[in-house]
Amino acid sequence: MNYQTLLVEARNRIAFVTINRPDKLNALNEQAKAELKQAFERLRDDADVDVVILTGSGEKSFVAGTDIKELTELNSGSGRSFSEGGQAVFNLIENLVKPVIAAVNGYALGGGCELALACHIRFASENARFGQPEVNLGIIPGYGGTQRLARLVGKGKAMEMILTGDQIDAHEALRIGLVNKVVPQAELLKAAEELAAKIITKGQLAVRTALKAVNATHETSLSDGQTLEARLFGDSCGTQDFKEGTRAFLEKRKPAFKNK
Ligand code: COA
Repeated sequence: MNYQTLLVEARNRIAFVTINRPDKLNALNEQAKAELKQAFERLRDDADVDVVILTGSGEKSFVAGTDIKELTELNSGSGRSFSEGGQAVFNLIENLVKPVIAAVNGYALGGGCELALACHIRFASENARFGQPEVNLGIIPGYGGTQRLARLVGKGKAMEMILTGDQIDAHEALRIGLVNKVVPQAELLKAAEELAAKIITKGQLAVRTALKAVNATHETSLSDGQTLEARLFGDSCGTQDFKEGTRAFLEKRKPAFKNK
């Protein structure tokens, strides 16, 4: 499949999705959002892919936001559906069931920060910068940022970022829990790939079930979440992978998971 705004390749059960508009710092236009939707739907259904790594092309930017040129046409009615459309794409990523790792290689601003937030794990290069600068344009984050940022870093820090529009650097992002790890830029994709490779050695049924259970934390009360956890735990106890994983431990060998 050829995309205009994305590069997609896969090797060793890992798919690499690169947003590829470097002359616009990978700003998300309508086409990029539509192609992200297509690409992630395909990767969800691709039996040869277990983990996805999402990054931006070039050394300067992950995604510098929604394409501001396209924003200028919006009014209150079209703005609402614009927001809902972006939310749907980012929800697809969050609910993909296969782990998605953001490799944030530079600016992650506005929709770029929100895109990283929709991923399950975030690694950043030392030059990465995060921010929700929408107030500078007279709008608010519209692709889930007001909700996901507060849930990830706490309401106070999210308020500060969203109300000031200020950027934070990678080390501050690490300190507040916005990213999982910071590495030199030259090592970013390697670090993300090593993480993906480690996840792939585990039973993928268990990985996907765990992802579903942890994702539910934002949707449910503690007791409903535990009800879901117990059901999914029970499901995982019914798999061949569970029998293999426990047997391999007792036999002091590596498990050979079949994802069944
Ligand atoms: N939408 C559309 N175009 C964008 C963009 C965006 N969000 N971010 C950057 N670009 C474009 C610039 O217009 C410029 O295009 P041009 O060469 O045709 O003029 C190109 O990308 C390079 O950006 P430039 O501003 O020249 O780079 P810089 O290094 O001086 O500044 C940023 C980098 C990220 C600080 C600056 O581009 C910026 O503030 N971008 C907007 C960030 C933002 O508000 N995002 C939230 C949108 S809701």
